Amino acid sequence: MLLEITNLTKRFGGLTAVSNVEFAVAPGEIRGIIGPNGSGKSTFFNLISGVYKPDAGRVVFDGTDITGGEPHDIARRGIARTFQLLRIFGGMSVLENLLIGHHAHVRYSSAEAVLGTGRVWAEERRLKDEMMELLSFIGLADYAEVPAGEMSIGQRRLLALGRAMAMRPKLLMLDEPAAGLSPVNVDKLLNTVVALKERYGLTVIVIEHILKVVMETCQTVTVLDHGEKIAEGPPAAIKEDHRVIEAYLGKEMGDADVRAFLRSA
Ligand SMILES: Nc1ncnc2c1ncn2[C@@H]1O[C@H](COP(=O)(O)OP(=O)(O)O)[C@@H](O)[C@H]1O
Ligand SMILES: [Mg+2]
Repeated sequence: MLLEITNLTKRFGGLTAVSNVEFAVAPGEIRGIIGPNGSGKSTFFNLISGVYKPDAGRVVFDGTDITGGEPHDIARRGIARTFQLLRIFGGMSVLENLLIGHHAHVRYSSAEAVLGTGRVWAEERRLKDEMMELLSFIGLADYAEVPAGEMSIGQRRLLALGRAMAMRPKLLMLDEPAAGLSPVNVDKLLNTVVALKERYGLTVIVIEHILKVVMETCQTVTVLDHGEKIAEGPPAAIKEDHRVIEAYLGKEMGDADVRAFLRSA
């Protein structure tokens, strides 16, 4: 297993946001995590990526115990993530946003800082080429010099994906990457995720609110409710699982959301 989590627990005061979760992802997998609002999905990511420290449990990544590690150290080990709320530098170009994603990662680890200036320059050139290839891959090469603030919401979501990829991760964790997108753009984004996975040999975990979105992309879906893992399995079985349906209905979701969930096929 690339990621192996046992008994993971996080409390905020009296609230247990993540409760005794067992979770394992194999290399090359695209895993979905779904659950109603407030079920602990983002907290789960924050525990893995080091933003929060767990109260109990263990996170083992690629054979190393990273429980309670610092975010930059965990990132350096090969875990990249996007955030539910977009964190794009609007005044900087699309390419600069990618380079920042890369530097945030290598600053702590690379030997570049101590190499001669010639080497630094060559390295920067090579890096820029690599980032341009990545931009081509996500369909944003023509926008490399455009300020990120001028991009549409769909393009920004792709850029967030590119920025996480700029860290050259082994594991890519996406928190509601399709939020606010039209159905066409959701498909485009998910297709890009699958293509990136194939091209770079990634493992992916994608959080989604609605099962329908991850139905075709993920072989296995994990369901959280009130911080607990209540189901795990192929999407077709998950959507028939009465505990899952109850969890969603119990959350007083909007009618449209419930219908979207139940209809997902
Ligand atoms: N930093 C925090 N302090 C206190 N409560 C938090 C914090 N982060 C999340 N929570 C609470 O933990 C629960 C799970 O939140 P979250 O992980 O964001 O859910 P989801 O991503 O599934 O919508 C919610 O009740 C939320 O209010
Ligand atoms: Mg969330």
